[in-house]
Amino acid sequence: MCGIVGVLGKHEVAPTLVEALRRLEYRGYDSAGIATLNDGRLDRRRAVGKLVNLSDLLVHEPLPGKAGIGHTRWATHGAPSVTNAHPHQAGPVAVVHNGIIENYRDLRAELAEAGIAHETDTDTETVALLVRMHMEKGESAEEAARSVIDKLDGAYALCFLFDGEEDLMIAARKGSPLAIGHGDGEMFVGSDAIALAPLTDRITYLEEGDIAVVTRTSVVITDRYGNAANREVRKIQTAKAMVDKAGHKHFMAKEIAEQPTVIGEALQNYLSDDGTRVDLPQEALNFAAYDRLSLVACGTAYYACLTAKYWFEQLAGLPVDVDIASEFRYREPPIPQNTAALFVSQSGETADTLAALRYCDGRAARILSVVNVSESSIARESDLALPIHAGAEIGVASTKAFTCQLTVLLLLALKAAGDRGMITTERMADLLSALRGLPATINNALELDGDFKKTARRLAEADNALFLGRGLMFPLALEGALKLKEISYIHAEAYASGELKHGPIALIDKKMPVVVMAPKDALFDKTVSNMQEVMARGGKVLLITDRPGAEAAGGDAWITLTLPQIDPVLSPILYAIPAQLLAYHTAVAKGTDVDQPRNLAKSVTVE
Ligand code: G6P
Repeated sequence: MCGIVGVLGKHEVAPTLVEALRRLEYRGYDSAGIATLNDGRLDRRRAVGKLVNLSDLLVHEPLPGKAGIGHTRWATHGAPSVTNAHPHQAGPVAVVHNGIIENYRDLRAELAEAGIAHETDTDTETVALLVRMHMEKGESAEEAARSVIDKLDGAYALCFLFDGEEDLMIAARKGSPLAIGHGDGEMFVGSDAIALAPLTDRITYLEEGDIAVVTRTSVVITDRYGNAANREVRKIQTAKAMVDKAGHKHFMAKEIAEQPTVIGEALQNYLSDDGTRVDLPQEALNFAAYDRLSLVACGTAYYACLTAKYWFEQLAGLPVDVDIASEFRYREPPIPQNTAALFVSQSGETADTLAALRYCDGRAARILSVVNVSESSIARESDLALPIHAGAEIGVASTKAFTCQLTVLLLLALKAAGDRGMITTERMADLLSALRGLPATINNALELDGDFKKTARRLAEADNALFLGRGLMFPLALEGALKLKEISYIHAEAYASGELKHGPIALIDKKMPVVVMAPKDALFDKTVSNMQEVMARGGKVLLITDRPGAEAAGGDAWITLTLPQIDPVLSPILYAIPAQLLAYHTAVAKGTDVDQPRNLAKSVTVE
């Protein structure tokens, strides 16, 4: 959360900074600001709310300068206000920060004792004030930055700019990602490669504890011990990092529509050329070696893990624990022998998931991850990282990353089933064939968009909604409720269908839509009974099923949406589509901010 950027350019940098911030806005949109060296002196423009407010301000109050830093904020310390907006400046230094300085209260007290007061409520201003203090004692800009970075606990990606230093930025990373972009006589700093994609395709990722001294023609990096560090310059595929809506009204709509393509890519990457085998080197991953699997994640990725539990247990007979990372990390769970730990994260930077991974390091037999960003901290700290190949996901509500996570997790479960001798050749061939057909089936589901839109108009009138699912559809019900609440602000809860009678049935009345996700699988009849219980109490059932399911359920439901038929094992991936499209169209009907819902951010690098 929070995006930072820095540019030592050849031309005016304000437009470049704003454009890079636009590409980082998914990380937070409580305020935005830039600082440049205007005639060698630091000058700032900051505005509350979305980046567009900063752009408007810059029209009236332009900010000249060829060196600058910028920030888009997800507020942690201090309300969203101009005063609390980054960059923070103290005398000759300005700084932008992503993360949380955990010992900022002690540092604030130290400064107060020295008679230095804060103007803001932020932890970041403390950093700027400390640097100024060190510079006043005669330290150079670089020395002062190093002295202060040495004192910081917590997580940070920082970028500093100094009065009178037209050719200097200092960047530092611990716990929050940071990339250096190499230009031609220009140099860039950014929270991720996406921010820098239009500027350069040559990227160096800083490692934990690195400090980079950046000029227009050089980058000198030292590691956490202060030793010179040689970090690779990688060529990134800028096309993959390009960010536009491709004619769609929202990123979310574009990302929903991309699913057949990206799932196809994920399959291509993990299936043999003829599509008949899961293609992962046996020496890298052999599930016969493990007695247990521990799956850990947050948010939508956690629901992908809940789904995967059914797959690993039912297909491969491998016992699975699933945990929310923020709970797992402090519970200090014992990790049984021969447990493989698997972390799922779109960004690969979620602070809680990363902390859970570090807890397992040295305890679990193997650390695996399923990530979208291959260069992320979680990927780099895993024994084996499996990318999901979803491409950049910008909409804050996860869509294509979820279905790609599910696809890769199902492939892993199939590999586990094979490794552990738990699946017949025929069943494996059937499931792989169904998987190969999945992009086409999802395409068919996407063609029902008009039905979802019509239904969403009616859902938009509700204040509350319940989602029900059984077996593999239970995690999907959870994901459906999450999607609806996060972007349409309709209060939605999900329950395992069998739990309805243990409490939530008390909520049922004529105003309560109950979304039932139920393909005609082995558990269908039980779910239909739960549906009848709802309808008997006047509840409005929105049944999402397939043709056999619709026929078997009769015509009693309020609305029935009929999806293509698919092998029940794959149904969670297909049923993600109605979950996403219902939420999307409901949010559009309500006029909420689909891509940037209030209070949320995409990459959650704080606790
Ligand atoms: C945030 C996002 C969610 C995401 C979750 C975990 O809450 O809004 O879409 O599922 O973080 O993020 P990760 O990057 O670890 O998958």
